[in-house]
Amino acid sequence: MSATPRNSRFVTFEGIEGSGKTTQIQMLSNHLEERGIDHLLTREPGGTPIGDQVRRLVLDPGNTAMTPTCELLLYAAARAQHIEQVIRPALLAGRLVLCDRFKDATMAYQGSGRGIRLDLIDALHGLDTLSIRPDLTILFDIEAPAALQRARARDHTRSRDETRFEQESLEFHQRVRSGYLEMARQEPGRFVVVDARGTVEEVHHRVVGAMDRFLTTRGAPE
Ligand code: TMP
Repeated sequence: MSATPRNSRFVTFEGIEGSGKTTQIQMLSNHLEERGIDHLLTREPGGTPIGDQVRRLVLDPGNTAMTPTCELLLYAAARAQHIEQVIRPALLAGRLVLCDRFKDATMAYQGSGRGIRLDLIDALHGLDTLSIRPDLTILFDIEAPAALQRARARDHTRSRDETRFEQESLEFHQRVRSGYLEMARQEPGRFVVVDARGTVEEVHHRVVGAMDRFLTTRGAPE
């Protein structure tokens, strides 16, 4: 079995650290729930018990020796498990799936950020079990310095450790952002770029607008 089921509703959310993506997905999920629209909320890396174990490995700030290739394959491994165990069954059942990060994150972080060739990352995702494609991708866009400031303030107030990626340089996050914007330019039919600046409510309003347009053209789930 390969690719995405026809007429699927697979929506992914992307953005650099501190873009507000995770808060916004949660708000969108609450909004859909209030309107009685059934959906599944999941994330990468994670979404399955095996994926959660991989998540701990890849984000552990102590794993400074991890090579870019090891990192790439771990993200792909978690994704393969996630697709088979969670995403594809939900899409086949006609459900709306909201996923916090997906393949574009690998293209942006391991590709544009770490310098692994994008065509090779693409080729890896040509495997039947990895080739599912989002129907809509909402990219939260914000300049890297402002986003990193947000991310660090968040870690401080939640007494949460920085992840391996938050320790990366400003230039790294600028490359990741450029990578995302380039993908959005190449696939304007799939991407909606949302301005992630402004208040949480203002951004939420933009996200709800994008989701409403999507559900109007695709049809809301039964
Ligand atoms: P999160 O901040 O959305 O929870 O994502 C965890 C981190 O993992 C984030 O720094 C981005 C990174 N990441 C990759 O580098 N490649 C990937 O394929 C995915 C899904 C995430």
